[in-house]
Amino acid sequence: MSTPSTASRIQREPELLGQTVVVIGASAGIGLETARRARAEGAKLILTGRNPEPLQRAASELDALSTAAFDAMDPNSLERFFCDLTPTIDHVMVTAGQPHYGRLFEMALAQARAGFDAHLMLALRVARNAAHKVRPGGTLLFMGGTGGRCIGIGLGIASTVTAALPALTASLALELAPVRVNLIAAGFVDTPLLASLLGDELENRRNQLRATLPIWRVVGPDDVAALAVHIMTNTALTGATYDIDGGQQFLAGC
Ligand SMILES: NC(=O)c1ccc[n+]([C@@H]2O[C@H](COP(=O)([O-])OP(=O)(O)OC[C@H]3O[C@@H](n4cnc5c(N)ncnc54)[C@H](OP(=O)(O)O)[C@@H]3O)[C@@H](O)[C@H]2O)c1
Repeated sequence: MSTPSTASRIQREPELLGQTVVVIGASAGIGLETARRARAEGAKLILTGRNPEPLQRAASELDALSTAAFDAMDPNSLERFFCDLTPTIDHVMVTAGQPHYGRLFEMALAQARAGFDAHLMLALRVARNAAHKVRPGGTLLFMGGTGGRCIGIGLGIASTVTAALPALTASLALELAPVRVNLIAAGFVDTPLLASLLGDELENRRNQLRATLPIWRVVGPDDVAALAVHIMTNTALTGATYDIDGGQQFLAGC
């Protein structure tokens, strides 16, 4: 028989009931899993991604309010998307983009700029476009990483972005208050992005992490989704960076 405290924990209200959550990059990985979790907590969803087919699949599964297929790196498309949004938004989660690797002195300057753009300028553009659409107390939530805290050849763009994102997040939190702005810094998360980056090496990397991470398992997109929904619902949180890497940043060689 359950005790009263157990029963009250289980019979709680869905935490995002009636709230609208926008996920920019929602058809796979961390974005899709966050959309799933937000839906399970009663949220209405507006989902975006570049490719219409996987986006439509996600929208059908999650009974999304609407979808928009566009490249979030294109400033005009991003601006149009936010201009066209009619409902008041409660939360915006940004999971579009991917890390950029390569030697700083060998890559074309345009490639380096794209690397900075993919996270820093995207966050700033989302903030500028979303600021007047998100209700007071709602959140903007960005994705960064812990891996770039290691300095190494080929990691220059990732490390620079990693160092800058917490400062950008905190600064935006002050300027946009009472809208809250936060950053999730992940290590290896087992998503389609990692599968495409690692190819045949994926299973080896998973096994290596299972053997070495202090949590003895690999971090999945559902772990990050749980953190994202917590940040959306805990109104004390703003301007902060939340690490979720199973302790990966403390391992030798990361
Ligand atoms: N996985 C990790 O280990 C890890 C660790 C640290 C940080 N991160 C960051 O977390 C974010 C999500 O990673 P993930 O592993 O979940 O990636 P993922 O599995 O590749 O999923 C990314 C999602 O975003 C969409 N997307 C990608 N680029 C986009 C763009 N330019 N415009 C609009 N939508 C876009 C993708 O759909 P379309 O391709 O159809 O657009 C997909 O729905 C990324 O910013 C990544 O750098 C990931």
